[in-house]
Amino acid sequence: MSNKQNEPIIKISQLSKIYQLGEFQVKALDKVSFEIPPEQVVFVMGPSGSGKTTLLNLIGGIDSATNGSIIVCGEEISQFSSAKLTKYRKKRLSFVFQFYSLIPTLTARENVELTMELMKKYSINGGKKHIHEEAEQYLEMVELKDRIHNFPSQLSGGERQRVAIARALAKNPDILLVDEPTGQLDQKTGEKIVALIQRIAKERKITVILVTHDPTMVKYADRIIELRSGAIVSDSINYEKIEAIN
Ligand SMILES: Nc1ncnc2c1ncn2[C@@H]1O[C@H](COP(=O)(O)OP(=O)(O)O)[C@@H](O)[C@H]1O
Ligand SMILES: [Mg+2]
Repeated sequence: MSNKQNEPIIKISQLSKIYQLGEFQVKALDKVSFEIPPEQVVFVMGPSGSGKTTLLNLIGGIDSATNGSIIVCGEEISQFSSAKLTKYRKKRLSFVFQFYSLIPTLTARENVELTMELMKKYSINGGKKHIHEEAEQYLEMVELKDRIHNFPSQLSGGERQRVAIARALAKNPDILLVDEPTGQLDQKTGEKIVALIQRIAKERKITVILVTHDPTMVKYADRIIELRSGAIVSDSINYEKIEAIN
């Protein structure tokens, strides 16, 4: 999949998602349209139930739309075969969730290595030295170099979220989808995590869609899209943002 300069990396048109709950219908998203240029850091805000997670899940190809289109790098993802969709999820995207979803029986480094093995970057038997080195580089990027042998239970919430970010980066994604990464963290730790995601995204030229309901985080966004009841109520470039420290 190639991407021309200045073409949107993501183009969403008239996107709707209706959940059927017995005889009731829940309109989680209602004809949402927007485009994201490459390398933009977009925050999606809005009250609980406004459709933020649904939007991420549709872009991430882990749920399918009722109507509308999602074009990523010029390709309509709803037209993907299941093999192509798997490849898309595996190669192009990374997810970071509110709950860190680390494997509790693996150390920080092993959690990152597992993703690298799944990416078939390394075979489980060969390349042990290289896989360790590369995993350590990702953990260094999130400032966790001195915690690589800790198990998740031996890490604070903020450190666990850093491991989850290192693991997401190990896929070398074009697009990073982040759902309420600070939900389990105190304000100060949460802000460090969001600042870290923004800095790394700028350094590595990753397009980010990050869901947050914390208005104090908006200084890290290039753009803020606000959802209410499944519809966009505002979409604005953030002129107040702090510049990434590159
Ligand atoms: N799997 C589902 N089945 C039925 N309704 C759902 C499902 N997922 C989300 N919803 C509903 O869709 C709406 C949007 O949900 P969601 O995208 O999770 O909102 P947010 O992430 O903004 O809190 C809510 O009314 C929610 O109850
Ligand atoms: Mg949500």
